[in-house]
Amino acid sequence: MRFTSLFVLASLAVSSFASTVADVQADIADISSKTTALDNSINAFANPGGTLTQALTIHNNAVALGSSLDHGTTDANAVAPLPISEADGRSILTNLEALEPTIDDALDGIIARKDAFVALPLGGIPALVKQDLTNLNASTSAFEAALIVNAPADLVAEATALKSRIDAKFASAIAAYAAF
Ligand SMILES: *[C@@H]1O[C@H](CO)[C@@H](O)[C@H](O)[C@H]1NC(C)=O
Repeated sequence: MRFTSLFVLASLAVSSFASTVADVQADIADISSKTTALDNSINAFANPGGTLTQALTIHNNAVALGSSLDHGTTDANAVAPLPISEADGRSILTNLEALEPTIDDALDGIIARKDAFVALPLGGIPALVKQDLTNLNASTSAFEAALIVNAPADLVAEATALKSRIDAKFASAIAAYAAF
C-alpha cells in the first residue's frame, strides 16, 4: 500500500518535471535573446558618460538572463528520453556556440566600462556589476555542466572546450572588478 502510493507519487514527479529536447532548445532561444538584450544594453552605455538609468537597465537584463539560464538548467537536468540523439546534441551545441561571440562582446564591454561605472553619481554600481557577473558566471556554468552531462559522448570534448572558454572569459571579467 505504502509502496503503491510512493510509486504513484514518483510517477507524478517524473511526469511533471521531465522536459524534452524541444524545451531545452526553446530555453536556448530565450537565453540567446536575453544575452543579445544584455549585450545591446552594455553597448548602449556610453564610455565614458553612460547614465545611472542605463546602468540599471544592464542590471535588470543581467538578472533576467540569470533566471532564463536557471530555468534552462532545470530543463537540461530533467531532459528525457535519454540518451539525447546525435542530431539533437549537435544542434544544441551549435546553438550554444553561436552565443559565444555575444557573450564575449558583453563581457569585453563590461570590462571596458569599469571606470564609467565608477564615475556614476550613485556609488555601489561597480559592486552591483561584480555581483551580477558572479551570479551569471554561476548560472552559466551550471547550465553548461547540465548540458555536458547529457551530451552524446563524441560531443563532450567540444562542449567542454566551449565551457572552458566561457568560464575563462567570466573569470577575467570578475577579476577586473576584484576591487569592489
Ligand atoms: C564561476 O562559477 C563556477 C561554478 O559555480 C565556479 O566554480 C567558479 O569559481 C566561478 N568563477 C569565478 C571567477 O568566480
